Amino acid sequence: MDASSRENHGPPPGHVAVIMDGNGRWAEARGLPRSEGHRAGAEPVRTLLKCAARLGVRHLTLYAFSSENWQRSPEEIGSLFTLLARYLDSETAELLSSGVRLNAIGDLSRLPGPSLAALRDAVEALSGNEGITLTLAISYGSRAEIAQAAARLAARAAAGALPPEDIDEGLFASELWSAALPDVDLLIRTGGDKRVSNFLLWKIAYAELYFTDTLWPDFGEEDFLKAIDDFRSRERRFGRA
Ligand code: IPE
Ligand code: IPE
Ligand code: MG
Repeated sequence: MDASSRENHGPPPGHVAVIMDGNGRWAEARGLPRSEGHRAGAEPVRTLLKCAARLGVRHLTLYAFSSENWQRSPEEIGSLFTLLARYLDSETAELLSSGVRLNAIGDLSRLPGPSLAALRDAVEALSGNEGITLTLAISYGSRAEIAQAAARLAARAAAGALPPEDIDEGLFASELWSAALPDVDLLIRTGGDKRVSNFLLWKIAYAELYFTDTLWPDFGEEDFLKAIDDFRSRERRFGRA
């Protein structure tokens, strides 16, 4: 075995994806409404983005709101989307000067108008940047993503424009909302639960998984560096002997 692969000398992950979980519990532990936990969750996003860019990570993908999160109360959903619009309005200038590009994946047609407008404005404003790509997964669920990719290919096949035998992994992946993203190298989940909750199922096929009990609003630079160190200590085999 290559000794260096067992030490902390490997390259940084090219694509880090994060399930930012635990905002509600953070707030409840302080006797605060859940929305205060979501508000407190903005600071770790800033920290993580800066730190990831510094380390040479090319893609950071954050799970901000799942398809299943639409089942939450209208108050909580409203506060989340208000916070999203506020975050984008207040951060865009800083993101612009630090070279960050912005993308969004998910069923964006369900977003409240002002949040969708803020998102589109921010994506457009940052489109000329060439640094780290921040992708926000919003109203996102992998099963919906995979089903719509299948439906689009089926429509082309039914129209006679696509021989079914031409459908391979590459073509299928090109129809996903996440088509522009490389495979995930490191998936981090905060908040103590060890599950993937319908996040990037296609792209995490060979991701290294990292779970921490730290609640998202408490997740700081040290926690992130620990996850990166852990990633660098792993030997990735991709099925090879
Ligand atoms: C993650 O925190 C943020 C979203 C899902 C939008 P939660 O709101 O799920 O917080 P917990 O898991 O209830 O503590
Ligand atoms: C996953 O967290 C979704 C986001 C972090 C946006 P959830 O809190 O919704 O996941 P479950 O319900 O614990 O699986
Ligand atoms: Mg949760």
